[in-house]
Amino acid sequence: MPRLAVNIDHIATLREARGGLEPDPVHAAVIAEMAGASGIVCHLREDRRHVNDRDVRVLRDVVTTKLDLEMAATESIIAVALDIIPDLVTIVPEKREELTTEGGLDAAHHVHFLTDVASAMHAKGILVSFFVEPDQTQIDACLRANIDIIELHTGTYANARTRIEAEAQLTRLRVAAEYAAQAGLVVTAGHGLDVRNVGPICTIPEIEEVSIGHALISRAAFIGLSEAVKEMLRALSL
Ligand code: PXP
Repeated sequence: MPRLAVNIDHIATLREARGGLEPDPVHAAVIAEMAGASGIVCHLREDRRHVNDRDVRVLRDVVTTKLDLEMAATESIIAVALDIIPDLVTIVPEKREELTTEGGLDAAHHVHFLTDVASAMHAKGILVSFFVEPDQTQIDACLRANIDIIELHTGTYANARTRIEAEAQLTRLRVAAEYAAQAGLVVTAGHGLDVRNVGPICTIPEIEEVSIGHALISRAAFIGLSEAVKEMLRALSL
């Protein structure tokens, strides 16, 4: 059964809807950890549309499992990461106009720059993950960049409209996971996962952890965050 890392960005999205203090993503992190999450993920965006600098700083102090800072590899956010020192950074592509991270990082195209980013993080003891499409070219670039973990983008799988398409995407993920793990990378996965589509992902033994946000926080609106995390953990263990 893969571990569950909970992305709490959308608690901050709700807070920002009114620009006040509630609900606090830091409270969400504590509840998620107490319900069994193995890590807390937040994406500090350039436009600070949900999680902000204060959140990341307080989360660094409060999170006792593992703090994964999702981030674009831009100068200002790299500076924040090197200052706060999360346990892990996950490098993602970022576009201002997107609603959520739309595709994987083009690690192959930016391999020299990303290698430098990874080594700066390593120098501070921060583990490095790249969020990439399940493609061999991207995995090879991750190996060249000397990172620790790859997070495979499950968005195309999650958005598949037919069973045949979902199975094809699952095979793509399986092949990529095997290739990356054999090459020595830790493999995780995320994007668009929910209690209904996560089961087949759990049949890929190389996937050690899933990172889930939107579906969990949406479910939490109806049944509470603690119960939503426990429900997801049950789905992961089926
Ligand atoms: N992993 C990465 C790298 C992401 O960018 C996101 C979305 O913030 C997730 C996982 C979680 O995706 P979702 O919110 O669809 O569960």
